[in-house]
Amino acid sequence: MVTKLKALILSGGKGTRLRPLTFTTAKQLIPVANKPILGYVIDQTSQAGITDTGIIIAPETGEYVKDYVKDGSAWGINVTYMPQEPLGLAHAVKTARNFLEDEPFVMCLGDNLLGEGITGLVDKFNMEKLDALILLKEVENPGAFGVAVLDEKGNVIKLIEKPKEPPSNLALVGVYIFSSRIHEAIDRIKPSWRNELEITDAIQELINMGCNVKSEILNSWWLDTGKKDDILTANSIVLDEYIKNEIHGSVDNKSKVTGRVKIDRDSVVINSIIRGPAAIGRNAHIENSFIGPYTSIGDNTKIVDSSIEHCVILDNAQVRGIERLEDSLIGKDVKVLKNNSHKALKLMIGDYSEIEV
Ligand code: DAU
Repeated sequence: MVTKLKALILSGGKGTRLRPLTFTTAKQLIPVANKPILGYVIDQTSQAGITDTGIIIAPETGEYVKDYVKDGSAWGINVTYMPQEPLGLAHAVKTARNFLEDEPFVMCLGDNLLGEGITGLVDKFNMEKLDALILLKEVENPGAFGVAVLDEKGNVIKLIEKPKEPPSNLALVGVYIFSSRIHEAIDRIKPSWRNELEITDAIQELINMGCNVKSEILNSWWLDTGKKDDILTANSIVLDEYIKNEIHGSVDNKSKVTGRVKIDRDSVVINSIIRGPAAIGRNAHIENSFIGPYTSIGDNTKIVDSSIEHCVILDNAQVRGIERLEDSLIGKDVKVLKNNSHKALKLMIGDYSEIEV
């Protein structure tokens, strides 16, 4: 019989590296190609047939997550929310103990994007009756992740979290499948040097307990979207893979749209060039502007007399008179305006903002 899995999606944490955006939203809700990252994660668990889904939320940003996912009916799933102080990935599993009962479950990090689904992984876990199945990917900077060492048969023999001297270049990708034995392992571990209960240590404990732990190497791309440049890269990759030509808004005859471009309803494009892959949300106003490849522009935005490329611009933002805006992540309700009277910069920016002039 095939075991029915639950899903545990981690959407808590602090998101300090994405401040100031994370003062008013959860980092998992920052959009790529105009859709929150968390939305892609739930797509993957629901496409694997998992309906019973628990979502870990942080006390500060949990309401934003609830506002987006609601009762999960948009994905055909049932959602249980569980608030957690960010004391580690294994601590999140501990927090979800009552929800998980003694069922096996898939754990996904709400800020990680994968280029392929998890159905194959779920099938392997069920077929081979494993206690843990982890996903690995070769990376150039393994010290930034949990790292696994495999023996010549491909068995996982050792795991370390963010090692100073990485013993391999195989990083733990943010998708794990566990049997209920993980709870026993978590009960046996202690907080790490960063004072977190690490899931990596818990999986090592499973190995020490003689449990059946296997790995799979991810063949597609994988992105951990913790920083601005990761979001821009994720945006480029997702636009490249998923955007089709879909024009629901209006484009006047002085404008030119080339490549794959999605323009949502009620948006207007006047005397502008849009070169895909690019996504423009609802009720956007683009006038006398150039929107270059790998750009996502949110709902109710105004882009006038400007040139933008390789950017993510969130809802209600305005960009006016800016000759060249590149590689930028612009938050909700932000205004970036040309000051015609002075050569001086005039700024009103939030805490932790970054400006490169
Ligand atoms: O991205 C993959 C890496 O994720 C793995 O290679 C590491 O082994 C694993 O520990 C984890 O490392 P990070 O330090 O990058 O994890 P981060 O703190 O960014 O948290 C990952 C996600 O889990 C993020 O969406 C926030 C959420 N989270 C995090 C903690 C610590 C929670 O919901 N609760 C928590 O207590």
